[in-house]
Amino acid sequence: MARSLILFTLLVMAYSIQVKINECTCEQVLKQDECDEYPIGGGIECDWNEEKKVCESYRSVECSILKGSEICRGLTSCGWVNGKCVNFKQCSDYQETVDQKCNDINYTCILIKDDQCGKVSIPECESFTPELCKNTSEQICVLSGSPAKCVTMKKCEQGSYNQSQCKKNLISCIWENDKCRDKKCTDIQTKDACRFISSFDQYTATLCQWTAQGDCIERNEDDFTENNCFYDSACGRVWKDGKCQSCSASPDPDPDPPAPIPSYHQILSIIMLLLAIII
Ligand SMILES: *[C@@H]1O[C@H](CO)[C@@H](O)[C@H](O)[C@H]1NC(C)=O
Ligand SMILES: *[C@@H]1O[C@H](CO)[C@@H](O)[C@H](O)[C@H]1NC(C)=O
Ligand SMILES: *[C@@H]1O[C@H](CO)[C@@H](O)[C@H](O)[C@H]1NC(C)=O
Repeated sequence: MARSLILFTLLVMAYSIQVKINECTCEQVLKQDECDEYPIGGGIECDWNEEKKVCESYRSVECSILKGSEICRGLTSCGWVNGKCVNFKQCSDYQETVDQKCNDINYTCILIKDDQCGKVSIPECESFTPELCKNTSEQICVLSGSPAKCVTMKKCEQGSYNQSQCKKNLISCIWENDKCRDKKCTDIQTKDACRFISSFDQYTATLCQWTAQGDCIERNEDDFTENNCFYDSACGRVWKDGKCQSCSASPDPDPDPPAPIPSYHQILSIIMLLLAIII
C-alpha cells in the first residue's frame, strides 16, 4: 500500500505537459482577438482579415519599400542586394567574390570562402574578460567560479555567481537561497500569469495550471476550455470542433490524430514505474 502510494505520488509529480512555444501559424488561429494579439515573432505578425474572417500572416517589415542601403542593412530581416532592399534570411544564401559585397548585404556578412558569404562569428563568452562579461548583450555570458571566469550560460545553475548574473535569463531562471535555479510553475503567484514556464532556450514550455486553492502548479491534465486553450498552451493549440487541438497535427481532417511523442517527463514516469516494481 505504502509503495503504491509513493508510486502514485511520483507519477503525478513526474507527468507534465511540454509544448513548443508559438507552434500555431497565423492561419491556424480561428478567433479575431487571438489573431490580433498573437505575439508570434520572427519578423511575422498576424492580422485578422475582416472580409474573409480569417487570420493572416504578414511580414512586419516590408524590405522592398525601404530606400537606401543604410536603413536596409540595419534591419535584421532585410538585405541590400544589387542596389535593392530585399527580404533577407542569412548571409550564406549569397555568393560573392569580394568581402565588401557580402558586407553590403548585411553588416554581419563577410566573405568566408572563395565565393560564399557567411556570418561574422560572435566572440565566445569564454574569451571575454570578467569586466566585459558583465556588460555584453550578444549572448548570455555570465561570471562563474572563483576567480571569476566568463562562460556561456546554458542552464540556470551557471548563473549562481550572484543575483545579477542569474537575472541575465529572467524568463526561465530565478534567484533563491544564494543560487540560480530553473523557474517553476509554483513560483508564479497570480492566476493571470499562471500559463507556462519557458525552457532556457525559450523554444519549448512546461504548461502550468491554476488550482481551486489558488496555487500555480504544473499542468497534468488536458482540461483546456475554449477560453484558455490558445494562451494557456503557449499558443500551441486552438479551440476547434469543441476541442482544444494541437496546431502541430496535420491540417487535413484526420479522425485519428497522431499519437503524441512521449515527452521526457513521460519517459521518466515509465522508468520510475519500472523501478518501483523492481524495488
Ligand atoms: C543583419 O544585421 C543586423 C545589424 O545590422 C543584425 O542585428 C542581424 O542579426 C543581421 N542579420 C543576420 C541574419 O545575420
Ligand atoms: C559597462 O556598462 C557600463 C554602463 O552601461 C559602462 O559605464 C562601462 O564602461 C561598460 N564596461 C565595459 C567594459 O564595456
Ligand atoms: C555581481 O558580481 C559582479 C562582479 O563582481 C559585480 O560587479 C556586481 O555588482 C554583482 N552583483 C550583485 C547583485 O551582487
